[in-house]
Amino acid sequence: MTSGTQSVKEHSWIDPYEKIWIIVSITVLVLMVAALTIASIAFGIQVPVPEKRVDPRVVTESGPFSEPGLRDLGGGKYEAYIVGQTWNWSPKEIRVPVGSTVTFFITSKDVQHGFMLWNTNLNIMTIPGQVSRVTITFEETGEYPFVCNEYCGIGHHTMAGKVIVEGR
Ligand code: CUA
Repeated sequence: MTSGTQSVKEHSWIDPYEKIWIIVSITVLVLMVAALTIASIAFGIQVPVPEKRVDPRVVTESGPFSEPGLRDLGGGKYEAYIVGQTWNWSPKEIRVPVGSTVTFFITSKDVQHGFMLWNTNLNIMTIPGQVSRVTITFEETGEYPFVCNEYCGIGHHTMAGKVIVEGR
């Protein structure tokens, strides 16, 4: 016959190794949440935001994607509308002065592409039916090539272009 107190004791006993791993797991979790919070608040690091849903079949017929390219909002702020379509980016070239803040709106007209802008942290999937938004500030002059980094068929390697950041 086992008494109630005995079984409670058996259940509340934790192996020392298990206890260590519980502490390690919770510590890692707390550190990761802290790192995420610091990255987003202190350093302003953002994940790509799905801006909105569109119909990929008609996305270039009207609205901002009917004329892909740069919009000057004034005060060093720009918007860039970019469309991926096998096997091209439209536009292939964007020019802005150094110090500009550019908000990219990117979508695909057909299959899934990947838009990666060198020397920045802009690296997103380009999904038909979805507009992705990422904001980048260009602090240094130079050429920032962009490529498709999601295999999209035989012409995949030709999907490239560049952002040119010019001196003032
Ligand atoms: Cu588009 Cu690879």
